[in-house]
Amino acid sequence: MSSRDAIGVFDSGLGGLSAVKEFLHILPNEKIIYFGDTGRVPYGNRSRDTITKYAFQDANFLIKNNVKMVVAACGTVSSVAGDNLEQNLSVPYTGVVNPTAFVAAQKTKNGKIGVIGTSATIGSHSYKLRLEKLCPDYKVYEQSCPLFVPLVENGFICRDDQIVRLVIKRYLSELKESGIDTLILGCTHYPLLREAISDFMGVGVTLVDSGYETAVYSAKILKEQNLLNDDTAPKKPEFYVSDTPDGFESIAGLFLGRNMEHTVTQIDIEQY
Ligand code: DGL
Repeated sequence: MSSRDAIGVFDSGLGGLSAVKEFLHILPNEKIIYFGDTGRVPYGNRSRDTITKYAFQDANFLIKNNVKMVVAACGTVSSVAGDNLEQNLSVPYTGVVNPTAFVAAQKTKNGKIGVIGTSATIGSHSYKLRLEKLCPDYKVYEQSCPLFVPLVENGFICRDDQIVRLVIKRYLSELKESGIDTLILGCTHYPLLREAISDFMGVGVTLVDSGYETAVYSAKILKEQNLLNDDTAPKKPEFYVSDTPDGFESIAGLFLGRNMEHTVTQIDIEQY
């Protein structure tokens, strides 16, 4: 594989594509190698030990493919295993929590911020702790939404879908009533439901997309560290998954707006 200069991005499944979408837009001459652990998704209801083991295997796969940076485009991994990854990987690492919390803290006007994420992310209070450090006066409201990931992984992403609307209403009603003006989509799968979430929360609530913000932040770090590619030719991203590529290809194709048929390779992640 000729990918010595690539940026490695991983998630449990489709979610990290919310970061990839922005990477492809802002850094078209950087090669992106994406791994989605579709054979073991979801991560968000698993133990710290399991999430950490999976996260290191995912990162090791990318590092074996000579990436110059590892991006955990996954709120769950960033919340539970982020420090461990940062201290132990041989290349620069970033997760989603710090860049996303930073942007949300800047965007809020009334100091009331909502955070939604997987059970593991919300249980870790990672975003809340970060926000309280940045702005001790802010009020942070947290809500886990465990059904969102299976919805996305099964292609339920349309804003008009009755099931999608019902699940969103069930999880987000209390947050809506709390008067937040900013909502962190703290799991990278959630931006795929962005339109439906926005329809429910209304125009007065700014949504902060953890995948998007992490891509913007990573690009800044790469630039600061002089790690960006000089070669201006556009690069083709590479996509890998740990289960059959079919479902991934069609939903990813829809979300990224490109034909993904026969472009995704299945690997055995257990060997990393
Ligand atoms: N997209 C992930 C996150 O940001 C993982 C969700 C899951 O696998 O449960 O948390």
